[in-house]
Amino acid sequence: MKSITLKSGNEIPSLGFGTWKLKGDDAKNAVAYALKIGYRHIDAAEIYDNQIYIGAAILESQIPREDIFITSKVFHDHLEPEQIVESCVNTLKDLQTNYLDLLLLHWPNKDIAIEDQLGALNSLKEKNLVKSIGVSNYNIRHLTEALDAEIEFDVNQVEFHPSLNQIKLKQFCEENGIVITAYSPIAQGQDLVLPTVLEVAKKYKKTPSQTILNWIISQDMVTIPRSNKEDHIKDNFGALGWEMEKSDIERLNKLNTNNRLINREWGEFD
Ligand SMILES: NC(=O)c1ccc[n+]([C@@H]2O[C@H](COP(=O)([O-])OP(=O)(O)OC[C@H]3O[C@@H](n4cnc5c(N)ncnc54)[C@H](OP(=O)(O)O)[C@@H]3O)[C@@H](O)[C@H]2O)c1
Repeated sequence: MKSITLKSGNEIPSLGFGTWKLKGDDAKNAVAYALKIGYRHIDAAEIYDNQIYIGAAILESQIPREDIFITSKVFHDHLEPEQIVESCVNTLKDLQTNYLDLLLLHWPNKDIAIEDQLGALNSLKEKNLVKSIGVSNYNIRHLTEALDAEIEFDVNQVEFHPSLNQIKLKQFCEENGIVITAYSPIAQGQDLVLPTVLEVAKKYKKTPSQTILNWIISQDMVTIPRSNKEDHIKDNFGALGWEMEKSDIERLNKLNTNNRLINREWGEFD
């Protein structure tokens, strides 16, 4: 599995499995199938309300814990330092594990000092409950403030797909050693029908989804498509193991229309 080395020295698999909106046994079955066919990175969050099912799937897979990369997130309304610690403890219990590979601040919260939020994540890292830390939905201003706190963090998980390609944010992250995890990578299906995506897919005899995910991975980012269907979970895994030419990456880079799908009132996007 292709991976990226984070600042913390840990390896994050370039392709993960998203779990938002997967509920109950659907979450368990989808994660079990993803692990069966080779995914080794699961993207979870306390707010998704399915971590018990994900934990059960991981345990029942009998794959050694150290072979699976697990991300979780602490939601926007739980970012006081003691709430971050409490959320992590609950997540560990639900996932039936004694550490997380990555824990993220799930959206910025300007009412709580970023030093305190990152400081709480860092205290979990020092206790070996979390291996790497990061943020999600941070724009350049949020990242600048976070970097000023001088507490090392590794990842910014943001919406990223051909119709929202975040060129400036991507460049800023590259310059500062922050790895982007691209969420909603196929724009929840919308970008699968873009004519250029279809043309590039045809050239490589790949599906539109494999083409978009490969375009993301080829640019040294991580991505976490979600699906509730076995054929789609398998299809997306086919994003790995091949390379597209630079000229095709550049063609796909031209499809941005600032098509943002996910926003919240506390998002503060530019
Ligand atoms: N940090 C954040 O704030 C944040 C926000 C949003 C998402 N995320 C994370 O990112 C993950 C992915 O984002 P997302 O769930 O918004 O969207 P997505 O992965 O872009 O799209 C999911 C949708 O695409 C369909 N799909 C998946 N693979 C397909 C394929 N090969 N062919 C055709 N359709 C396909 C799925 O339907 P089927 O189930 O029918 O296959 C589902 O409706 C989430 O699950 C979550 O883990 C994080």
